[in-house]
Parts: sequence; structure tokens; C-alpha cells
Amino acid sequence: MALDDFLASLDSLADEAQKAFVTAGTADALEEVRIAFLGAKGGQLKEVQKGLGKVDKADKPAAGKRFNEVKTLVEAAFEKAQEQLESGAAANQDAFDVTLPGRAVRIGHLHPITQTIREMKDIMGRLGFTAVEGPEIEDDWHNFESLNIPLSHPARDPLDNFYLACASGANGEADSPLLLRSQTSTVQIRVMESTPPPVRIISLGRVYRPDTADATHYPMFHQIEGLLVDRGVTMADLKSVLRLFCQSYFGGHEEVHVRFRPSFFPFTEPSVEVDMNWQGGWMEMGGAGMVDPNVLRAVGYDPEEVTGFAFGLGVERICMRQHGITDIRALYQNDVRFLEQF
Ligand code: FA5
Repeated sequence: MALDDFLASLDSLADEAQKAFVTAGTADALEEVRIAFLGAKGGQLKEVQKGLGKVDKADKPAAGKRFNEVKTLVEAAFEKAQEQLESGAAANQDAFDVTLPGRAVRIGHLHPITQTIREMKDIMGRLGFTAVEGPEIEDDWHNFESLNIPLSHPARDPLDNFYLACASGANGEADSPLLLRSQTSTVQIRVMESTPPPVRIISLGRVYRPDTADATHYPMFHQIEGLLVDRGVTMADLKSVLRLFCQSYFGGHEEVHVRFRPSFFPFTEPSVEVDMNWQGGWMEMGGAGMVDPNVLRAVGYDPEEVTGFAFGLGVERICMRQHGITDIRALYQNDVRFLEQF
């Protein structure tokens, strides 16, 4: 075989192989091209190598040298193609596909009780009542004694209260028991102790009683407490404020009426249960009354100078009636399918 023919076949093989390696787009295609050109059995390079034996003896060194050059060239072309394929795959993995649809973010919202509390604060704020807070762990003085609930009173029964294992030395008493407050009326005392009259406040917060959970009771619930103390405050003021509150909260265009039923609370005299008209009947809202003179005295107010009214309503019951919720427990099971309705 003439040297020129052998070199020409080597050149065209080098050309073809380089083109084929560049265009192989996948690992499988590249492997096929590698076998076609560099394969130990039947690879094109092997086939061309067979021609080396037929080249004239004098031309063999030149032919062999060129064959080795082409072989190195084809192998390098394969390695380069392989590297490019691998780095391209890695780059693709990191790539961000801007055409993919976005993932929707689940947006939460306020718990129905929080919504109710905010609405109540808003309404009472417009009636001139400032929202204040008090501690949930209370001492004997604020939860009972100052509220005219003496030591012998059944309301102090350990079965009706969450007493804590520790005690406070508050108010000079060495062993004053501490408890989770059973009513927000405690805040009345804290405000009157630190503020001279007139006062006009509401307090909204959690209270705790060892009641068995059922459709209308829960061991932890919320109350809204209202207190107004000034000169010449009467039951008529109490009724007007409660009526305005109920009208704003439930009323809409409907006329709301408030009804008082005689009741008893140690810290109010007279005391009443408050009902409002609701869907053709009467709905109980909570307790209220004129602040007992003993309570005014306990905080250093003069009952001859000022009078006041107070009320305490159950927030859950009001929220339930507003939304038609029939079981209080549903409010605290944290089932998103239930809560997302409000
Ligand atoms: C009181 O707690 C008085 N402090 C209210 C008060 C304040 C009267 C100021 C006078 C002056 P009572 O124990 O009735 O009252 O509770 C008031 C409201 O809390 C009830 O009408 C009811 O709506 C709600 N309530 C009571 N116990 C529970 C409970 N376990 N779960 C949910 N709501 C309750």
C-alpha cells in the first residue's frame, strides 16, 4: 500500500471521529461512537492499523508515527467529549427552570377567638374603654379576698380552681396560695389599686376552671371583663353600654335588646345575668352588676363618692353563637379544615 493512501485514510478517520464525538449528545451515543472508532474488536482505528502491515517497508516508520498521532488525537477527542457531557449534565441539574409553575404558599389567618377578641376590643374602644391586661397566675387577694369572696366561700373550693403547688408571700401573708385565675374580675382590682377614679377599662384574656370539657364548657376559656367607675354611675349606664356592645357585635340592622335577670356575685350588688335577644329567643351573655361597696373599699375608693358597674362575658360562647359553632371543643382541636372556615 502506498504511504499516501494510508495517511489519507488516517486523516479521514481522524476527521470523522472528531465530528462524531462532538455531536454525540448523550452518554450512550458517545459510547457507541467510542466503540465504532476505538473499539478493540472491529473499531475503525483497528481496521486502519491492519493497513500498516501492507505499507512499504521504507515508509513504515513514517506511517507508524502518524498512526500513533491519530490514535492519540482520537482518544483525546473522546475524553474531551466525555468531560463536556459530564459538566453539561451537572450544570443542567443546578439550572432553575423558570417555566415551572410556582408552588402556592399556604397563608394562615387569625384564630376565630382572636378575631372575636379583636372585634370586641375595637367596639369597646369606640365606647371609650381602654384595654388592659392582668396576670394569668393570681394570688388569693386578687382572685378572692378583694372581690368580697371570704375564706369560707365555696368559690374557693380546690375542686373548682387550679391551685398551684407553690405559694406567694404577697400582701404580707406568708402562705398566700397561687392559682390560675378563674375569672378576669381580678383585673378590676389590679386597675383600681393602681389608678384613682374615674376608670373605664376592659380586659380580655384566658381564665381556667377544672370544668369537664363538653359542648359548652372547656377548662380554659376567655372572658371579656368591663369596669366603669365614676361619680353617679347607675344600672342604666350598664344596660346602655351592654346594649351598644351587643348591637355593634351582633346587631347589624336588627334592633338588639338586653335583658337583666336577678343573680348573685359576691363582688357586685345588685347582680344580674345578662341576656340579649337572638334569633327569636334570649341568649345568655354572662354576669354583671354594680360594684359592691366592699370591693371599692378594698381598693381604697370611697363608695360614698363613686359608684361603678362591672360585667364579665364568656368570649367562646359569643364567638360560637356568632358563627353557629355547636361544640366549644372544636375551637381548640386545631383542625385546620375547621378553622379555615372563619
Ligand atoms: C363570672 O366569671 C364573673 N366574674 C362575671 C362577672 C364579672 C359578674 C363582673 C359580675 C361582674 P360566670 O362564672 O358566670 O361569671 O362566668 C361568666 C361567663 O363565662 C359565663 O356566662 C359563660 O359564658 C362563660 N363560662 C363559664 N364557664 C365556662 C367554661 N367552662 N367554658 C366556657 N365558658 C365558660
